[in-house]
Amino acid sequence: MKIFITGVSSGIGQETARLLISAGHEVWGIARRKDLLDKLADELNSPYFFYSQCDVAIEEDVNNTIQLMAEKNFMPDVAVLNSAIFPKDLKDGFDFSAFRKTFAVNCFGALIWVEKFLPKFLERGSGKFLAIASTSAFRPDPASVSLPASKAALSMAFRSMGLRHNQSGVKFTIVYFGPVATDIVPEFRDTKGLGKLFVMNPQTAAQKLVKAIFGNSAIYYFPFWLTLIFRLTLFLPDRLFSALSKKIKR
Ligand SMILES: NC(=O)c1ccc[n+]([C@@H]2O[C@H](COP(=O)([O-])OP(=O)(O)OC[C@H]3O[C@@H](n4cnc5c(N)ncnc54)[C@H](OP(=O)(O)O)[C@@H]3O)[C@@H](O)[C@H]2O)c1
Repeated sequence: MKIFITGVSSGIGQETARLLISAGHEVWGIARRKDLLDKLADELNSPYFFYSQCDVAIEEDVNNTIQLMAEKNFMPDVAVLNSAIFPKDLKDGFDFSAFRKTFAVNCFGALIWVEKFLPKFLERGSGKFLAIASTSAFRPDPASVSLPASKAALSMAFRSMGLRHNQSGVKFTIVYFGPVATDIVPEFRDTKGLGKLFVMNPQTAAQKLVKAIFGNSAIYYFPFWLTLIFRLTLFLPDRLFSALSKKIKR
């Protein structure tokens, strides 16, 4: 299978690229940090790994990648829209430019690939878009406005597109992850006590993601039990939920 992944320079995206290449699939990965992409390519040393430097928030970069992919005849079977940032936009009041940037990467920087690949996917009647969401899409976060808002917007866009293209053979899948120990939230790497039980390592998260890439469900929740708690407690007021989760994290 041909799999396109945004954000392969670190974390879950990188581990997923490793797993897919070792299973014999073709992967086209993108990210901004060229040194890390080169390093990954050296490590994988595979004719099945293709990559290009691309900022998903810059349309010209996206078009360049689309052009490079066309030249190599790489039309993906699955597009994994994984790139994201998590700036602290609530420091010193509200940082609107950080909010706008987060949407440009986490939401528009995912949906732009849908615009690019969808016509071909519809024409051939197959293909899958996979959006990486988060439990932050269910609850507000006292540290960030833009992360929960961008992930909620992305998930809702995917649910709408899934309904719209239900009969077309093109699938829209959402993966909701709980905490994973990667660079995006450095605190998750240092979680102590009971909280540690709830943090997945990126290798495990990648194994789960591979399951979603080849699975048939429209929505996946990883890890199941932690994300179930989020979903079952949606009736609790935000302030109570936030206070309870702070106690567990300590
Ligand atoms: N870690 C968690 O606790 C957690 C929980 C739930 C959901 N998730 C989701 O999982 C996904 C992967 O995150 P991660 O945990 O693996 O974090 P990560 O290690 O920070 O990976 C983020 C990836 O996104 C790329 N990226 C960021 N901005 C980009 C841009 N403008 N253009 C292209 N690529 C960009 C980064 O590459 P460059 O910087 O090189 O561009 C990096 O490869 C994200 O969607 C995240 O929201 C993570």
